[in-house]
Amino acid sequence: LRSVVLGCGSYLPAEALTNAELAKTVDTSDEWIVQRTGIRERHVAAPGEMTSDLAVAAARAALADAGIDASDIDLIVLATATPDYTFPATATTVQAALGITHGFAFDVQAVCSGFLYALTIADKFLVSGQHKRALVIGAETFSRILDWTDRTTCVLFGDGAGAVVLEAQEQPGLASDRGLITSHLRSDGRHRGKLFVDGGPSSTGTVGHLRMEGREVFRHAVGMITDVIEAAFAATGESAESIDWFVPHQANRRIIDASASKLGIAPEKVVLTVDVHGNTSAASIPLALATARHDGRIKDGDLVLLEAMGGGFTWGAALLRW
Ligand code: ACO
Repeated sequence: LRSVVLGCGSYLPAEALTNAELAKTVDTSDEWIVQRTGIRERHVAAPGEMTSDLAVAAARAALADAGIDASDIDLIVLATATPDYTFPATATTVQAALGITHGFAFDVQAVCSGFLYALTIADKFLVSGQHKRALVIGAETFSRILDWTDRTTCVLFGDGAGAVVLEAQEQPGLASDRGLITSHLRSDGRHRGKLFVDGGPSSTGTVGHLRMEGREVFRHAVGMITDVIEAAFAATGESAESIDWFVPHQANRRIIDASASKLGIAPEKVVLTVDVHGNTSAASIPLALATARHDGRIKDGDLVLLEAMGGGFTWGAALLRW
C-alpha cells in the first residue's frame, strides 16, 4: 500500500500585513526584512478567528480538490504549535466541524516540522491498512504568540493553513508509483532553548511569546536540512536531478537558497511562497504545495521533495510522487 495524494487545499486569513505597515509600529524597514528574509507580507487572523477555523477552511478546500466527502475520511492528523485551546486537540474541533463521527483525530506538535511529522504518522496508519483516507493539516496562528514589540521575531511569521487528503492505494511497486515514497524525521532536544515559547500550562500557566536566537537557528538550519535530504536521496536512489519540485518549509529565503544550492537543486525547481506568506510554521509546506499544484506547476506523476526544520530542533525530509 502507498499513501497517495488525492487533493490539497489552503486558506489564508483576509488581512495581509505588509512590511511597510509593520514599520509603522516597530523599528524596522521593508529593505531590512526583504534583504534578510525575502518576506514582503504575511497574513494575520482576524480577532476571534482561530487555528481551527483556518484548518477547517483548508480541509474543505482539500476535500473539494480530492472530490471526496468528509464522511470518507477516517483519520485526521493536525500539526500545530498554536492550538485553539490547551485541550482538546484542535483536530477534534475540525473533525466535529466537518461532521465526521468515526475514525479518530489528534494533534501533532513539532513546530515548523509539524506537517512532515503529521504526514509521516498518517502514512503509517494508511500503509498498515488500518485506515483508508486521511486528512493531514498544518494550521497556525503565530500572530497570537508573537511579541509585537520585538522586531527580531515579529517580522518573520504569519498565519495560515494547508491540507492534503491521502488515500491508501495498492501500487505495483515501481519507481513511478504515486504516493509517499520515503520520509525521514529527526530531533535533537539539546537545541530546544534556541527557539521556544516562554510560557505553557505546566511552566508559567500563561501562553507566552516566541523567543529565538535567530543566528543560532540559521547556523544549524542548512546543515540539518541538507543532511536529512541526503538521507532521503540515499534511501531511494533519487537525486537533485531526478526531483521535479523542491517544496521546503518557508522560513527564510536565504536558508532555502543556501540549502538548494548546497544540494545542487536548480533554482527553477524551488517553490517559494515565503515572500507572501511569511513563516507559517506547520502550515507552510501544505500552503506551498497547494500554491504550486493549483497554479499548474506540480503535475500528476511529478516527484516532489519536502523539507522542514524548526523548534526543538526538529527536522525532516520526504519524497512524494504526486
Ligand atoms: N529590522 C531592522 N533591524 C533588525 C531587525 C528588524 N526586523 N531585526 C533585527 N535587527 C537588527 C538587530 O538588532 C541587529 O542590530 P545591531 O547590529 O545594531 O545589534 C542587526 O539587525 C543584525 O541582527 P542579526 O540578528 O545579527 O541579523 P541576521 O543577519 O542574523 O538576521 C534573522 C536575523 C533574519 C532572524 C536571521 O538570523 C535568520 O534568518 N535566522 C533564521 C531564523 C528563522 O528563520 N527562524 C524561523 C523559525 S525556525 C525555522 O522555521 C527554520
